[in-house]
Amino acid sequence: MTDWYKDAIVYQIYTRSFFDANGDGIGDFAGVMAKLDYLKDLGVDVLWLSPFCLSANDDNGYDISDYYRVMPEYGTMAELAVLIAESHCRGMKIMMDLVMNHTSDEHPWFLAAKSGKAHPMRDYYIWAPKKGGQAPNNWESFFEGSAWTEDEATGECFLHLFSKRQPDLNWSNPKVRRELHRIATWWVERGIDAFRLDAIHLIGKPAGLPDAPEPTVNWPFHNFCNTPETHEYLQEFNQEVFGKYSVMTVGETGGTTPESARLYVETDRKELDMIFHFGHVHETGRPKDAGFFRKYYQEWYEALSPKGWDAVFFSNHDLPRHVSHLGDDKSFRAESAKLFATMLLTLWGTPYIYQGEEIGMTNVRFSSLDDYRDLAGKKIYRAALAKGYDSKQAWEEFCRLSRDNARTPMQWTAGKNAGFTQGTPWIGVNPNHVTINVEEQAKDPDSVFNYYKKLIALRKTYSALARGSFRLYGEEHPQIFAYIREDEHDAFLVLLNISGQPGVMQTGEAGRWSFLLGNYVAPAHDLPAALQLNPWEARIYRRKK
Ligand code: GLC
Ligand code: CA
Repeated sequence: MTDWYKDAIVYQIYTRSFFDANGDGIGDFAGVMAKLDYLKDLGVDVLWLSPFCLSANDDNGYDISDYYRVMPEYGTMAELAVLIAESHCRGMKIMMDLVMNHTSDEHPWFLAAKSGKAHPMRDYYIWAPKKGGQAPNNWESFFEGSAWTEDEATGECFLHLFSKRQPDLNWSNPKVRRELHRIATWWVERGIDAFRLDAIHLIGKPAGLPDAPEPTVNWPFHNFCNTPETHEYLQEFNQEVFGKYSVMTVGETGGTTPESARLYVETDRKELDMIFHFGHVHETGRPKDAGFFRKYYQEWYEALSPKGWDAVFFSNHDLPRHVSHLGDDKSFRAESAKLFATMLLTLWGTPYIYQGEEIGMTNVRFSSLDDYRDLAGKKIYRAALAKGYDSKQAWEEFCRLSRDNARTPMQWTAGKNAGFTQGTPWIGVNPNHVTINVEEQAKDPDSVFNYYKKLIALRKTYSALARGSFRLYGEEHPQIFAYIREDEHDAFLVLLNISGQPGVMQTGEAGRWSFLLGNYVAPAHDLPAALQLNPWEARIYRRKK
């Protein structure tokens, strides 16, 4: 079946922080190997491995210096081959995180390009002369300052939408595209089943590289991402690789709207299977309440179905932990973690679980800036100061948003270093591993972990929960997000109280739905005509036959 990805559940492994098998403080392939049975037991189908190619590690693997080799910290190519084979033996597929918008500045292509204007590889990257002593245009990088850095030897600037150690590849050069097709094919031949395509909405730069209308605020989200060129390159990639080998694809496309997303995922366009969009997790100033989610998922469903497909997630390695960010990690940690799990696994679209969310891992709070590792973090701090925050407020903002919140080691046990490593971890462990860890939760039938397992099993049992239609239920409610998933065999009603207060709801449908699963003690009855949900309560009902 070519659309198997619709039934799949993906689990993202940030290898560096997952499990360290050799005691050097860095997670590795052997560490993932050691946990394959854990992942199988959880019930996931696809393992997304964060970038593992040789890297200068300025951005933890998102700056590749050789696409045909692996990071020695993670292990050898032979170990990776075993990991792929062992995953396949257990019926799990491997998704590779492919970073092709840019390379590392240590990649031989860049070294060659930089060596002189006349070098045949010069136009593997994007160069432009300065304009009146300034950068060629006003684009800002996502990480810090201008997106251009001058190369002193040649006097020209190169473009880098991320750090200056991540120069952007020139996709308008067919030689570059051919190299990238070759790389992707080479990995498919090594058993890779799926690709997560990093920053893929940025590959096609607008012709002439014009100034952005608003230089500093989220410039790429205006008319600089999702260009016609980007779609052209993806169609070509699909023809050369994705479609040819039926690999599953998900594009990281920040700033896409439901309308612009259709161009990536409608099947007849032959580009990608699905994309990640971020309106529900990025700061927008709007509260993420029931009304928000109701409108958000309705809009996406309407835009993408039936010709496209969605990807659903609340956490990844770039975001704060969602139980802290969207839920309540103080009074209702387990409840809110389970509520988002319920939403994740009953919405329309392929669910993506980020390591640690299955035990309700929270944000961390280190005591000093030196304990943080992420290079993007410094920008958050400086931006907060620039907004007029004092240093205390800026620090709060930084702690809340740092990408390192998601990157602290996976909490396996209550013991030393959360059981992640025998050595010194590359980044500190969250002290709350003493109470939040896999070992305890695996034993506790009511744990967040066991709740994820039940939800995953449900989604596998009832195809309506994966492929069925999505429809809002009832009137708009200030606290409760309610919807129905339905196919020709079955219908499921999902009720989610996205608040720390009890919520009362009228259904007027006594006796038609039977209770299936929830995150509080099971109510003894069928869905009543009126009901009260506890803070962060989630319930799933099934329509009676
Ligand atoms: C994506 C990755 C992020 C990385 C950036 C540059 O947004 O998820 O971690 O820093 O691309 O590659
Ligand atoms: Ca290691």
